[in-house]
Amino acid sequence: MSNELQRTHDCGTLSDKHIGETVTLCGWVHTRRDHGGLIFVDLWDKYGMTQVVLNPQIDQLAHEHAQSIRGNYVIGIVGNVRARPDDMVNQKLKTGMIEVYVDELSILNPSETPPISPWEPQDTSEALRLKYRFLDLRGPELQRNLKMRYDITRVARNELHRHGFVEIETPMLTKSTPEGARDYLVPSRLNAQKFYALPQSPQLFKQILMVSGMDRYYQIVKCFRDEDLRFDRQPEFTQIDIEMSFGNEKLMFQMIEEMMAGIYQEVLDIKIDTTFPILKYQDAIDRFGSDKPDMRFGMEIVDLGEIVRGTAFKVFAQVLESGGQVRALNVKNSTDVLSRKALDDLTEIAKTYGAKGMAWIKVQENELQSPIIKFFEKEMLDNMLKTLGSEPGDTVVFIADTPKIVADALAHLRLALGKQLNLIDESKNSFTWVTEFPLVEYDETEKRYTAMHHPFTAPREEDLTKFESDPGSIKARAYDLVLNGNEIGGGSIRIHQKEVQEKMFKLLGIGQEEAETKFGFLLDALQYGAPPHCGIALGLDRVTMLLSGASSIRDVIAFPKTQKATCLMTQAPSEVSPKQLRELRLKADLS
Ligand code: AMO
Ligand code: AMP
Repeated sequence: MSNELQRTHDCGTLSDKHIGETVTLCGWVHTRRDHGGLIFVDLWDKYGMTQVVLNPQIDQLAHEHAQSIRGNYVIGIVGNVRARPDDMVNQKLKTGMIEVYVDELSILNPSETPPISPWEPQDTSEALRLKYRFLDLRGPELQRNLKMRYDITRVARNELHRHGFVEIETPMLTKSTPEGARDYLVPSRLNAQKFYALPQSPQLFKQILMVSGMDRYYQIVKCFRDEDLRFDRQPEFTQIDIEMSFGNEKLMFQMIEEMMAGIYQEVLDIKIDTTFPILKYQDAIDRFGSDKPDMRFGMEIVDLGEIVRGTAFKVFAQVLESGGQVRALNVKNSTDVLSRKALDDLTEIAKTYGAKGMAWIKVQENELQSPIIKFFEKEMLDNMLKTLGSEPGDTVVFIADTPKIVADALAHLRLALGKQLNLIDESKNSFTWVTEFPLVEYDETEKRYTAMHHPFTAPREEDLTKFESDPGSIKARAYDLVLNGNEIGGGSIRIHQKEVQEKMFKLLGIGQEEAETKFGFLLDALQYGAPPHCGIALGLDRVTMLLSGASSIRDVIAFPKTQKATCLMTQAPSEVSPKQLRELRLKADLS
């Protein structure tokens, strides 16, 4: 048999309908079992697995040949489809009714013994898996995740097409776009000592496209951000990036909700409700401590400031006096589970988010257990427990501090407790829009305002007068999409008037000259008929992670980077030759 054998079927197709046919299959040796006379090979390709059988009585040569094949060899066979004996039928396999008796065997390419087994990746370290990513990608989980990723983009494209959006590419070698991270820079050989920035997002280009009358743009696009990496953050990641003219929140939400519904239907065969609840930013913070709340479970934060005002417990009293907050979670049915050690562990969690401690009360049938009740009068205690809705069996955990620390600490305690007590219904898909973000935040270290989203986000019309008087209270027409406690998208109504954009730059401490150098082209464009417009970007990696149930976005990206932004397979980043540096007129600084 020649190397050019043409397969008639893939490895996941044959069934009892094909019994008696002569077929040609190609694939990888998944397993080989030598049963004395017969050799059984599970032949694998991305479509499935087929058992092929080498019988010395059919072809002595092929059988001898088969002695040498090992896992991951690439082989081709021509053979005859037979029904498996009744007791050999494998119900778990799509092709489990049949096996193929080999007439001809061809070894298309042998394989070294692989350093990791693609089909049993769990007993390998992630570093090794990333180094041998080509093997790892053969495994069922990554095959499934990448297929799912493709299906998600396919449905997204169809939905966007249906709504009249057109995909337009924007440059990768460009100028810095302010999304709040560091830029990846690319030196220009033809323009010595000048640098391109890889886009943190196509934000400015998509806005310019609206000025150009493109009306509805989208792009499935790579974005680059040099920032601290986590399970849901990669230095390069993909957005489903969208912009539309003459739109508003209502239109945008409806379209994205339909798109998400389409994706769930097609990819998971799940029907989801298409009106996602809307939560104002401040309510999200007050109720869940986070602007990306996991709303698959309750356990909302309760403010006790008014009730404990005047308490003899110094920690609470002092915090309230200095304008801080005392807030708590009532953890239902938890006194048995929350041992002293568990409470200490929770305190440590709270401390990592800046809290100085975590007070607690265990509400038992006939008594309260707590290091702090001795400081409280009965009436205040009763009042507190009533407000919290505490019943015997519940535990209350308290944090007293500045609003930011209280929110952060309680948000993380809530999530930790939700997991520990199994309160999260994993079958739920809880989408939420979060709106009415503050336009700007005050950066204490830099002593200036920074944009909460980006500097092109429009303020609410009624807040336009507050730019000088009370900028901190201006609300942005921004929105985030949250799924099960993860921010999967963000966008806004944009500023389309030059004067407002200039006001915004001024507020952010970006002087006229700096604005001109960095965003002159945008300011220019805004003068020549910029329509009202709005947009959003969904994080494709995060959406895929959540739909596939992966625990990191690394598992839904073909060639991801490590925590240190390296690629273990290609060894990027790497040194370059002195010649290349000279061409770029750069000097590597070793210090
Ligand atoms: P934003 O910065 O909120 O908005 O990004 C949009 C979405 O992209 C995803 N995302 C990431 N995913 C993986 N790794 C990262 N490092 C990373 N950073 C962001 C998140 C996020 O919600 N130009 C605006 C959008 C707009 O206003 O239209 C933007 O980029 O899921
Ligand atoms: P102390 O009087 O400092 O021993 O604190 C008594 C209890 O209050 C301990 O359980 C502490 O963990 C807790 N506690 C201390 N500081 C805070 C705080 N800022 N917020 C909530 N609880 C605290």
